[in-house]
Amino acid sequence: MEVSTIVLLIFLSTSLSLPSHSESSPGCKAWLAQSIPTDMPHLPRVPGVLSTGDVFRWLAWNSTQRLDVIAQYWQLNAHPEDPRSGDYGYSKADMLRFGAHEGSSVYKALQDAADRNVSIRLLSHSGVYPDYTTEPSNLASGRPNVENVTLLLGEWYGSGIVHTKVWISNRRDVYIGSANNDWKSLTQVKEVGIYLVGCPKIAKKVEVYFDNLWKLAYLNSSAYTKTVSDQQWQTNRKVPCWSRFLDSKESCRSPLPQFVRIPHVAGYPILSDPYMFKISIQTPGHSHSTLRPESSYLSFAPPELSFGRYQADQQAWVDTIKSVGSGGTVRISTMDWLGQSQYLKPTVYWSSLSSAVSEVVFSKHATVKILVAYWAHFINGTDQYLKSLLYSNVLCSSSKYNRCSGKVEIKYYMVPGFNLTGPATQNGTSTGNIYPGYSRVNHGKYAVSDARAHIGTSNLIWDYFYTTSGVSFGTYNPAIVSQLQLVFEADWNSPYAVPVEEIDQDGQFYSS
Ligand SMILES: *[C@@H]1O[C@H](CO)[C@@H](O)[C@H](O)[C@H]1NC(C)=O
Ligand SMILES: *[C@@H]1O[C@H](CO)[C@@H](O)[C@H](O)[C@H]1NC(C)=O
Ligand SMILES: *[C@@H]1O[C@H](CO)[C@@H](O)[C@H](O)[C@H]1NC(C)=O
Ligand SMILES: *[C@@H]1O[C@H](CO)[C@@H](O)[C@H](O)[C@H]1NC(C)=O
Ligand SMILES: *[C@@H]1O[C@H](CO)[C@@H](O)[C@H](O)[C@H]1NC(C)=O
Ligand SMILES: *[C@@H]1O[C@H](CO)[C@@H](O)[C@H](O)[C@H]1NC(C)=O
Ligand SMILES: *[C@@H]1O[C@H](CO)[C@@H](O)[C@H](O)[C@H]1NC(C)=O
Repeated sequence: MEVSTIVLLIFLSTSLSLPSHSESSPGCKAWLAQSIPTDMPHLPRVPGVLSTGDVFRWLAWNSTQRLDVIAQYWQLNAHPEDPRSGDYGYSKADMLRFGAHEGSSVYKALQDAADRNVSIRLLSHSGVYPDYTTEPSNLASGRPNVENVTLLLGEWYGSGIVHTKVWISNRRDVYIGSANNDWKSLTQVKEVGIYLVGCPKIAKKVEVYFDNLWKLAYLNSSAYTKTVSDQQWQTNRKVPCWSRFLDSKESCRSPLPQFVRIPHVAGYPILSDPYMFKISIQTPGHSHSTLRPESSYLSFAPPELSFGRYQADQQAWVDTIKSVGSGGTVRISTMDWLGQSQYLKPTVYWSSLSSAVSEVVFSKHATVKILVAYWAHFINGTDQYLKSLLYSNVLCSSSKYNRCSGKVEIKYYMVPGFNLTGPATQNGTSTGNIYPGYSRVNHGKYAVSDARAHIGTSNLIWDYFYTTSGVSFGTYNPAIVSQLQLVFEADWNSPYAVPVEEIDQDGQFYSS
């Protein structure tokens, strides 16, 4: 009874949002958006890709009615004068060279939208040192049209944060991608995202997820969480009481605006028919030709915040890897890669993505190229997990009866200057750093096969799929698929990408 009402509601909202409702718009358009750090002269630019800074400014400038933003943290304004900041000690000329003005102009555009009485909702994690919630609080302060809220997913899962990076303007225009609301994400960190313009059908779905997060922020987590003996991940952990990891007898009715209840499952099994929408997307940045409607999708993490027949984010990554054709190539770009949890204690083992990679190497004879960031905050254990994945190549050719001709290739992405980041001065002494803290890193999170493109906000570690929030947009649109391949290949073939085998665990080249 409950289920059918909800399903009906979902169908209704789908059929009500036909493109014909948006008179002024000729249809949904999409552009890839990138941030490319300064001082990377040897990285070829892919024509037609927008800059993240422009996209954020345009979203704020063109917003007339409402603007919803989900961010992990806010540091759009640089603080070279604050001794607690990773920007400390750099001169005005340095900051200009770093492109810090891009961040302040995005902040100014948001301020202007707030002053135009646009209804703005800002949802974030508690932020990061030393700014925390200063920027969203200042935007909200004294403006009844701006609402700000902090959602602490740690209270719901024991660990985890809001890590989604999403902007939704006027219920039509959307950014989904890796860029934080941080000035460094515009000019000092490499980011990849997608800018969808005039796409109310997609925007409304992302808004449902936004509303679920918003609702969660106002609920008393103690009244809605339980400890589950999680059979899939072999651990006891805290989850919302409507989680499918709980036995249906122990679970509660979800208080979220939209959800689905399915008894008799433990965890979030693969859906055989995840919800996809056939949509015609124009790609003015690459080619205007593909007006044929192609399947596209959204996926969400953590699974308890998803709704309808939307797949969990992990399934969308796995299915993108498995979408490769026989003898084809899968390209994966990520900041982090770890076959386990990072924050959940006790640590759980997680081979979901590496298994999918090995499976297509064996049976599809696929080539899988993986680009992982090497930077100042590189996570210990990464190198071992990557090398264990490379061992698939040995297994693949371990018997001539395998007839296995696929392979895994992995490179570290080293943005020049990655090991010279941090404040310029500390206690009045020069540190020798030449770039601000937490910069000079490839932070994009996407995968692209020969058939399908997937652009996400999650790092490739267990926590991002089960306790931390994230959203992905994916599509079979051939123009988006081919342009995303070009973005990957530009990085992969650049001198900044170095085969994993050539780097030791301290980031030094093995001397030959
Ligand atoms: C938004 O605004 C900017 C400048 O105000 C403009 O150049 C841009 O084309 C507009 N539209 C979109 C969809 O970004
Ligand atoms: C701002 O918008 C709200 C509704 O969206 C309206 O009630 C209010 O009067 C507006 N304020 C101004 C100053 O225009
Ligand atoms: C929201 O903004 C108000 C007003 O500036 C501020 O007092 C409050 O701390 C902020 N709340 C959160 C959760 O950031
Ligand atoms: C939250 O829920 C817990 C457990 O039901 C209850 O003891 C507590 O009083 C509630 N807190 C608030 C602020 O309502
Ligand atoms: C990570 O590795 C570095 C270098 O090998 C080592 O100094 C450090 O203690 C390690 N950290 C952790 C948390 O294991
Ligand atoms: C130098 O700065 C660090 C970090 O800001 C601080 O912990 C330390 O106490 C300072 N040392 C001196 C000698 O002031
Ligand atoms: C920074 O990394 C590069 C590349 O691995 C290396 O050649 C250089 O020695 C490193 N510099 C420092 C200060 O560690």
